[in-house]
Formats: sequence, C-alpha cells, structure tokens
Amino acid sequence: MTTSTPTLRLASRASLLGGSVIDSSTSLLASQTHDIVRFAMGAPNAELVPEAEFARLFAAAPAGSFDYGATEGEPELRAQLQSYLRRQGLEADADRLLITTGGMQGLDVAFKLLVDPGDLVVVEAPTYTNGISTALSYEASLLEVPIDDDGMIVEALPDFVARAGKTPRVIYTIPNFQNPSGATLSEPRRRLLLELAKEWDAVIIDDDPYGALRFDGTEVPGFAELSPGNPRLVQVRTFSKILAPGLRIGWMDLDPALRQLAVNAKQAMDTCTNVPLQHVVAAFLAEGALDAHLSHLRAVYRDRKEALLRSLGQRFGSEVVATHPEGGFFLWLTLDGRYGGIDTEKLFPRALAHGVAYIPGPAFAASGGFRNALRVCFATSTPERIREGVERLGAALDEELLVAAAEAPR
Ligand SMILES: Cc1ncc(COP(=O)(O)O)c(C=O)c1O
Repeated sequence: MTTSTPTLRLASRASLLGGSVIDSSTSLLASQTHDIVRFAMGAPNAELVPEAEFARLFAAAPAGSFDYGATEGEPELRAQLQSYLRRQGLEADADRLLITTGGMQGLDVAFKLLVDPGDLVVVEAPTYTNGISTALSYEASLLEVPIDDDGMIVEALPDFVARAGKTPRVIYTIPNFQNPSGATLSEPRRRLLLELAKEWDAVIIDDDPYGALRFDGTEVPGFAELSPGNPRLVQVRTFSKILAPGLRIGWMDLDPALRQLAVNAKQAMDTCTNVPLQHVVAAFLAEGALDAHLSHLRAVYRDRKEALLRSLGQRFGSEVVATHPEGGFFLWLTLDGRYGGIDTEKLFPRALAHGVAYIPGPAFAASGGFRNALRVCFATSTPERIREGVERLGAALDEELLVAAAEAPR
C-alpha cells in the first residue's frame, strides 16, 4: 500500500500493484503495543505449529541442504508429497508437480502463464484479496460472480459472460471453505464449471489451501477427481494452513506441458524454494506425522468455529449474520439491523483501539462493495480469546453508533 508518490520514473505496471490489506495487517498489528484479539490474518496460532519438531528436523537436514536446489523441488519432498496425494486418490505423477514458494507463488505463476492484458478472468465475489491483486498485476479484466452458501453461482455465469461480451481465459475459484466466506462449491456446480471451462476453452485455477481442514459435513469430490488428467485444471496448494505459513512452501499440480513452463517462470523468480525447509517438510511427512496433525487441527478448529458462532449469537443476535462453514479458517459476517449502516473499513481504527482486528469486507472485491461485511479468522484464537474478541467488536460497534448519533444533524 503506497503512502507517497516515488519521484523515480516507474514501469507502468507498478501502478497495478495495489498490495494486500490482509498482508499489511501483519506489520500493522506488530507495531501495536496494546493487547489485540487477532481475527485478521488467516494463520494458525504458534501453539498449533509443531515448532519443536520443525527445529529438530531442521537440525537434521541432510548435507548439501544449503546449496541451490532443483527448481521442481527437492526429490524427497516431491516423493513424500506424491504418496500423500495418492492416499487421497489423486494421480500426482512426478511430472505434474512443482514445489512453490507458498500458494502465492503458484497463483503468480498461473496468472503469468495464462493471462494477457485485457483477458477476462472470472472471480468469486467476494474472493481472496491477493488472488485479485495477482490477476490485476497481469492486467486481467475481472468478471465478479456472486456466491451463496454453495459457492460461486455457476448457473448465472453464462449470463455474466454474455454481458461481458467475451469468454473468460481463466476461472479463479477457491472451492473449499472459501476465503473469505467459508462457502464450499457444490458438486453439481463443480461439474458445470468443468463443462463451461471446456466450452470456453478456459483454464480453472483451483486454489485450495483449506480443503484438508474439513471438520463437519461430507467431502465434496475435487475437480481433479471429477475430471482426472484435465489439462484445463491448474491446482494451487500450500502447506501454509495445514503446517505453517512461515515455511512458505506450497505446490502446483498441473498438466506436464504447462508444468515445464511453470518451471521456466519460477526460474525467473526465485530459482528454487527454500531448500532446508523443504527437507523439514519432507521429513515431517516421512515420519507419518501429518495425518495426526491434521486430525488435531480439525478438532481444534471445530471448537473454535463453534465458540465464535456462539459468542456472536449471544452478543449480537440477528444483527450480525454469519456464514456456517464446514471447515477452514473463516466466518464472513454481515452487519444488519442497527449495525447495518456501519462501514467496516471506517470502523477498523475504532475496533483496533478496542483491541480487536479483522479484515474489512471491501478488501475482498476489486470493485469494492461489501462495506457492511467483515472477515474473521477463528483459527488463531482460543475460545476464551474469541469470546473476548467478540465483546470488543461489540463495544466498537456500539461506540460507532453513539458517535454517528452525536454527529447526525438535528
Ligand atoms: C485462498 C488462498 N490462496 C492462497 C493463499 C496463499 O497461501 P500462501 O500463504 O501459502 O502463499 C491463501 C492464504 O491466505 C489463501 O487464503
């Protein structure tokens, strides 16, 4: 987020780099000296990260771990990843996988390879802030499609496309426990999206950091299960939400021909992903620790989601409407009743002063909107802290109403 205009002559693309309200919240919160309940970043708390195991495995990283590594990823990690994916019934052939520096690099590579200036990219509205920023940095023209409890309203997509006057090159979707709404795309809509992508010769970027974190309901088959080997499918994945975001390790699973171009693109970015940390993740998987870790996370997140919904219901009744996700990290809240006219972006400094942070709704759509909505992450805080955070949010909202009433013309 720019605060001053540089005097240097910049490339025109510099003006397309809008930054991320979400990522900027990390340094904003680090600079605060008072106690804050953190509903803002989509991150697990330190107590849910196996830090001691990581330290042990880092110390045991094999000789040569501090050299450059293969761009495709360390063979040990790729082999472990293949067996993890195969246990889920996916093909995961070696020539389809590329280890990336977090999910963000997967998104960057995908949009870089697929989008020319002016190309139409379908996105959910609301959607992940950084996904939009990445598409815009390649000069995509965004087509926002609304969502409901079953994810993107795919049945409406042909009408939106007809009105746009051109067919999309890319359909960007977060199918499971979507960021920010928590919604999951239903199986009929997944099937329809696959058909539409074929009809329009478009690629589906399937961004799924949260799919392994289902704590309720029944599994919905993934795009790759519904359409194995589909060259129109680019899967972007990450260990950030199931192990730790600071590792910055993710992967792409994509058609081998496209994978080679993705390798070339990555070589022009960072050569290879952090090698010692790839060995840490490989060893963690080799010890068979991931399945137990995931079971633990699912149980903890179910408790936290329920604590958040309970606290919201007790504090706000029907004046804050929440989504009910079956997994992942987020609830999407819409202010209603007395609070319905409050702008969550304007409210933010007051909420911060009261000791609670969230991400305001307008961050999740390029065209703005969602002014009376906010994203809250339940993964980071214990149920007690969640209760405290909801109380603080209530205090900020009530104060905002009082201030607005005092300022209103008489
Ligand atoms: C939908 C979605 N995609 C991608 C990412 C980026 O993942 P990473 O932190 O591994 O770069 C996130 C992180 O919040 C996300 O929510």
